Amino acid sequence: MGFGLRARKRIGGKEGSAAIREALGRKSVVLIGLMGAGKTAIGRRLAKRLDLNFTDADSEIEQAAGQNITDIFSEHGEAYFRDGEQRVIARLLKNGPQVLATGGGAYMSERTRGNITRHGVSVWLKAELDVLLERTGRRDNRPLLKAGDPEAVLKRLIDERYPVYANADITVQSRDVAHEVIVDEILTALNQKMVSQENGERRGS
Ligand code: S3P
Repeated sequence: MGFGLRARKRIGGKEGSAAIREALGRKSVVLIGLMGAGKTAIGRRLAKRLDLNFTDADSEIEQAAGQNITDIFSEHGEAYFRDGEQRVIARLLKNGPQVLATGGGAYMSERTRGNITRHGVSVWLKAELDVLLERTGRRDNRPLLKAGDPEAVLKRLIDERYPVYANADITVQSRDVAHEVIVDEILTALNQKMVSQENGERRGS
């Protein structure tokens, strides 16, 4: 059954946003997914709709290191980056509520997954290979994609990571539609997961 216009307004509008913020408490909405899934672009818009701060974990890692991600990888290696990534995300999760976009590898760390589960609601932006390939091809800032044929690397990462990303609280299909369409879908899912569920629990108790 689809939602009527009134219900859509309620979920996507100011009222719906306030209800989601209330249900979040100190928790963050944490976007996960592969490079090119749209975590930053969609995260910024989602934060605006929810009237929350937006934080990009990769930018925070760059700030903390005083270097961009390409240089961190080439000068110190991936293990060093992952270590910093875990620590920075653990720190950022203390600042909720907010919308937090994480780098594609972050959720693969068991420690980070645990922290996200405790302090956030995870939203997986799931995208098909062709979407990821087209979007990541526009920029030259992903060290992992320079290590080999980008299509082969992304295919391998899909195989390795999608079964783990599937543990997210919410999954939304990222695709070539207006960002606001995806944002609306996330708001609807957050509402169903957090607000309706909470109301249901209250009614049942
Ligand atoms: C990575 C994704 C990147 C960045 C780093 C490693 C990954 O973030 O953290 O290059 O392991 O998938 P985006 O997903 O924001 O591109």
